[in-house]
Amino acid sequence: GTTDGIILQDYIRNIPDFPKPGIQFKDITPLLAHPAALRAAVERLAAPFADRKVDAIAAAEARGFLFAAPMALMLGVGLVPIRKPGKLPYTTVSAEYALEYGTDRLEMHSDALSPGHRILIVDDVLATGGTMKACCDLVRDAGAEVVACAFLLELGFLNGRAKLAPTEVFSVLSY
Ligand code: PRP
Ligand code: MG
Repeated sequence: GTTDGIILQDYIRNIPDFPKPGIQFKDITPLLAHPAALRAAVERLAAPFADRKVDAIAAAEARGFLFAAPMALMLGVGLVPIRKPGKLPYTTVSAEYALEYGTDRLEMHSDALSPGHRILIVDDVLATGGTMKACCDLVRDAGAEVVACAFLLELGFLNGRAKLAPTEVFSVLSY
């Protein structure tokens, strides 16, 4: 296809010392801005799941939404938003996750998923795995099944994969 020659790493910019000293931030905005790179990223995220039984995609705001919606279109399924507290209007369920200092929480509508639903959860980056673990907890607490967790980019040295085990983890790129 037209995206075969796209090298996605060429569209990910390293920002030293953001948001604080010592952190090498992986900035995906060049990829988002480049039509063929954006298409290639979404195609490569969705491809492994084209022949799998997936009932819906779930994703956490904000950056997860950027990839989840086009993937849902590509796979022909709907999208369940997982949001930071106070954003969803109907009855919610929530899951807590650890930050470097303290905790945060993510919410999902209580009627978003049904028992037995097979859910693919998507995010831009796997770092410590805290965000995705909270998403998995929300999906499973609703009685649904996590087919896999899919990421554009995995920071392997943070070992977020271990936090998600034994759930299947797919990353397009690893650093
Ligand atoms: C970033 C990123 C992932 C998460 C990864 O989101 O988009 O969701 O961190 O880190 P973790 O594996 O250590 O949980 P962030 O919370 O910065 O919010 P945003 O998506 O709204 O920018
Ligand atoms: Mg995020």
